[in-house]
Amino acid sequence: MEKFVINGGRRLTGEVAVSGAKNAALAIIPATVLSQDICVIENLPTSISDISYIIKALEYIGADVKLINSSTLYIDARRVNLYTIPDSITTHLRASYYFIGALLGRFGRANVAMPGGCYLGPRPIDQHIKGFELLGAKVSAEDKATVDVRCDKMRGTGIYLDVVSVGATANIMLAAVRAQGTTVIEQAAKEPHIVDLANFLNSMGADVRGAGTDVIKIRGVEHMHGCNYSIIPDQIEAGTFMVAAAATRGDVLIKNVIPKHLEPITAKLVECGAAVDENDDSVRVRLDRRPGKCNIKTMPHPGFPTDMQPQMAVLLSLADGQSVISESIWTNRFRYTEQLMRMGADITVEGRTAIINGIEQLKGASVRADDLRAGAAMIIAGLAATGKTEISDILHIDRGYEDVVGKFGELGADIRRLYCPDGSAAKAL
Ligand code: EPU
Repeated sequence: MEKFVINGGRRLTGEVAVSGAKNAALAIIPATVLSQDICVIENLPTSISDISYIIKALEYIGADVKLINSSTLYIDARRVNLYTIPDSITTHLRASYYFIGALLGRFGRANVAMPGGCYLGPRPIDQHIKGFELLGAKVSAEDKATVDVRCDKMRGTGIYLDVVSVGATANIMLAAVRAQGTTVIEQAAKEPHIVDLANFLNSMGADVRGAGTDVIKIRGVEHMHGCNYSIIPDQIEAGTFMVAAAATRGDVLIKNVIPKHLEPITAKLVECGAAVDENDDSVRVRLDRRPGKCNIKTMPHPGFPTDMQPQMAVLLSLADGQSVISESIWTNRFRYTEQLMRMGADITVEGRTAIINGIEQLKGASVRADDLRAGAAMIIAGLAATGKTEISDILHIDRGYEDVVGKFGELGADIRRLYCPDGSAAKAL
């Protein structure tokens, strides 16, 4: 069992480079099975555990995967010969469901155990299934443990999503690129990683248009080939550093970003009084006084991302005044507030709304990372607080953030990873 131990109260200053986007990579890596060819993918966050598990899944079905360097993968999908992925792999991450669409596209058949991932409330996949069925597939998920999908000949069609879903949009795209005729996804998700997936599929010879808008048109193709591709920077890792800079009243240049993807986060930080300078591929965030309050409502892109909601709650816990956060994507994404309150935060949760009365200072405490972004919030809280913070259950953080100690350490944070054999006595790693 490992923990992060943070001695807080230091301003973050300096420069940090953001890794490639986890949620783009998690769709793009399974997409490589659509070709019987070789893909080389750059700017991947290869050291996070979600990527390790998606690679394990790919190897399980027969792909040859090699790490060319710390952020580049060589994937040879020519010998992929299985359409089954067991729960020993899928249980570790949400994105294992992208193999359903990708294997359906490759073999007309997929048998994938139900995905795991962070608990943020119920996470149904009915819209994925609706899409596959409309393409002509027979889907059975009766035992609720495995999704079995088969289709001799997928046919393009109109698919109207009842909820805006990143996962359903991506999964339907993965299958539809190999359907006969044109598929039109309406009420599609518009996240940057949806656009990245479309660009990757097009680099493999697919014909996907309109990604980044509500309507995506996919003209099926008979053949897809290998390609070289570089993944976009991680919007949420960038946003996490931006908020950490502001919460510690620091001055940080965050490099390898696409500033346009960060606009909703930038807008809220500016509302709180931070200075955010945008350059071509970096942003500088500065705050030298107590943050101001602001209200946030999470929304699908280009709205404020739910995956930045816990981190912003830390900043607002320190703000001058009362802020209100409304969570409209997930039904249970305020569990972390209990941990934040152990550090002195004044937060009242009513259903999907959190009312935050800002306090002058958080105090270090022993807290838990309830999920990935909750864990990121605990790191920011620990960095901004006085005294020592110990964060347990950091396996959730390791799912999505590369080199936490190295990156925050370079910015002047006092953060260590400790090994605790019995959950309490900490030994340096
Ligand atoms: N939904 C349905 N039916 C479906 C699919 C989704 O009702 O078939 C609902 C969900 O219950 C939720 C909403 O639609 O209320 C949005 O869910 P979505 O499908 O967009 O989420 P997801 O694809 O499961 C991805 C990210 C999450 C991120 C959400 C929202 C990946 C692997 N995960 O999840 O990222 O919170 O989109 O932006 O891409 C994270 O990185 O920490 C993380 C949780």
